This record gives sequence, C-alpha cells and structure tokens, in this order.
Amino acid sequence: MRTPGSGLSRFDDLRPITSTDAASGFRCEHEALNVFFRQYATQQGRREENRTWVLPRPENAAGLPLVLGFYTLAMTQVERGTLPAPIIKRLPDYPIRAFLVGRLARDERCKRMGVGEHLLDDAHRRILRVNAEAGGLLAIVDAKDAQAAKFYADRGYAPLVRAEAEANRWPQRLYVTLATLRASYVAASR
Ligand SMILES: CC(C)(COP(=O)(O)OP(=O)(O)OC[C@H]1O[C@@H](n2cnc3c(N)ncnc32)[C@H](O)[C@@H]1OP(=O)(O)O)[C@@H](O)C(=O)NCCC(=O)NCCS
Repeated sequence: MRTPGSGLSRFDDLRPITSTDAASGFRCEHEALNVFFRQYATQQGRREENRTWVLPRPENAAGLPLVLGFYTLAMTQVERGTLPAPIIKRLPDYPIRAFLVGRLARDERCKRMGVGEHLLDDAHRRILRVNAEAGGLLAIVDAKDAQAAKFYADRGYAPLVRAEAEANRWPQRLYVTLATLRASYVAASR
C-alpha cells in the first residue's frame, strides 16, 4: 500500500460542487463521469443523495482547467457474503455500513500530475473524520476499468467477491477496511 498524503501542498483544498463548476467543461476519459458531473452532481447533492467534492484550479495555474478533478461521497452498505472469510469473522452479523467513493476522476488535461492520488487521499481523510463521529467499517470504490482497479489496488483496495460470470464486467467494486486505512494514515504521520 502506498504511503498516503504525498504532495498534498501542491493543490488547493477541495470544496463542495457549485453550479459554476458543473458548467466549467470538466472532461475525463469516461463520458458517463462527464455527464454525471455536468448534469447530475449538483442536483443529487441538493437532494442529499451524495456529496460531490471538487478540486479547483490553483490561482497560479491559468493553463489548467477550472476543475482539476472531483469525487463523490455517499453512504452505502455491503452484504457480508461479498467479503472474504477472514474479514467477515471480525464484522457484525448484518449488512456492513460503508462509505462509497462512487465516482472519482481527474480532468484529462491534468494527467500525470498526481491529481487522482490527491482526490483519493482527500476522500480517505474525510471518511476517517466522519467515521470518528458516526462509525462505519469499510471504504468502497467502483473502478470503471482495469487502470482504475490498479490505481485502487495500489492503495490497499481489494475486490469484493463476485460471481464468476461477473468477473470481467465493469465497474468492479473494491473495498478497504477503515481499520486498515486508519492504520496507514497513523503510520504515515509518524
Ligand atoms: C484513475 C485515475 C483517477 C488515476 O489518477 P492518476 O494516478 O492521477 O492518473 P493519471 O491518469 O493522471 O496518471 C497516471 C500515471 O501518472 C503517474 N503519476 C501520477 N502522479 C504523478 C506525478 N505527481 N508525477 C508524475 N507522474 C505521476 C502515475 O504513476 C501513472 O503512471 P503510469 O501510467 O505509468 O502507471 C485517473 O486515471 C482518472 O481520473 N481516470 C478517468 C476516470 C476514472 O477512470 N476514474 C476511476 C473510476 S471512477
């Protein structure tokens, strides 16, 4: 698992999405994510279905898009049977409360700048803060393709158990326990 939090100071803080962000021309390789950002993110936030957090362009970076990236955070639950046996043993006997980073993307004009890493790190820190107040046992992500799955696997995520027929279907849902996540942040702060 990669050490969390590297390179944080190069970017501004994330903030909740505004309708101006939605119309800013954000684009990544997955059109479904672009459509979500443009048309549904603000509306779903208003309805309190989820929250979209936006990484704005820093003041001194006129050549970059107005929004460098975003992610969406919501609560979800996970059926125990989709988790591997050693994990299940330590969890309660009912569906598991979890935080869902349902969508995460950086603009395609900001490749190889560490934006994806920064977004996920911010999501993790936010999840751990909420977890300290309200509880929750897992963080969940939906990888849209193999590249995204590798990005998450490099940061400690493992696939949920799925039927063999679905093994090669996307998106794929991955999880990390909040105990593991917290431990990685505690170790990184030492
Ligand atoms: C998946 C995703 C979030 C990963 O974020 P990311 O690591 O910042 O990814 P990028 O595509 O910008 O860059 C990836 C490459 O840049 C490298 N890189 C990352 N940070 C870097 C930095 N600060 N300096 C130099 N290189 C860097 C990575 O190591 C990787 O190299 P590789 O292709 O040789 O392995 C991003 O690719 C993305 O938003 N994709 C489109 C939407 C998507 O698929 N979202 C996930 C599913 S919801």
